[in-house]
Amino acid sequence: MINLIWAMSETWLIGKDNKIPWHVKEDLLYYKEKTKGQTVLMGENTYYSLKGYYKDRPLPYGKIYVATLNDIDFLDAIRVNDVVTFLKDNKEDLFVVGGATIYKLALPYADKLYISLIKGNYEGDTYFPKFDLNSFKLINKNETAKVTYLIYERGNK
Ligand SMILES: NC(=O)c1ccc[n+]([C@@H]2O[C@H](COP(=O)([O-])OP(=O)(O)OC[C@H]3O[C@@H](n4cnc5c(N)ncnc54)[C@H](OP(=O)(O)O)[C@@H]3O)[C@@H](O)[C@H]2O)c1
Repeated sequence: MINLIWAMSETWLIGKDNKIPWHVKEDLLYYKEKTKGQTVLMGENTYYSLKGYYKDRPLPYGKIYVATLNDIDFLDAIRVNDVVTFLKDNKEDLFVVGGATIYKLALPYADKLYISLIKGNYEGDTYFPKFDLNSFKLINKNETAKVTYLIYERGNK
């Protein structure tokens, strides 16, 4: 099962200067509850962004795969040089946690989407790739003052 999880603004913004453009604590807690101890796949940029955020603390996941076109060895993660083949052959329960490049490559293989729609206006430089939500059906929606939490599953509406 391949899950994608991300937070975006109403303009589909997801990043600024290789960081998240907002600080919305309740969404951070939601993200942590979903991904804690899970096997995750992320791109190299997101990996360095998270390393900066957690500093000397370990990243709070289980197994970590990092997609990169470079020939780097990571101390706490497994390198994936061909993310499409990796996703095609995947048999694990996996959370794809960004960023934009990796979401785009992973969308065709996604079984489930966890989307946090962050309310408000933000500026940044990285957007979630446009895709067709028609191949997914909404299975859960929960709205708070700051965020709309949506869960979609692949299948007909
Ligand atoms: N709001 C959210 O939920 C959320 C979540 C995660 C990240 N983000 C944000 O997203 C931004 C980062 O996104 P990004 O697109 O710049 O980077 P990214 O997706 O984190 O990483 C992209 C990496 O993938 C590599 N790559 C490209 N094609 C590949 C392939 N076929 N197989 C393996 N690796 C491949 C790229 O290599 P090259 O460099 O050689 O092209 C690059 O190193 C940041 O601002 C971050 O904060 C937001």
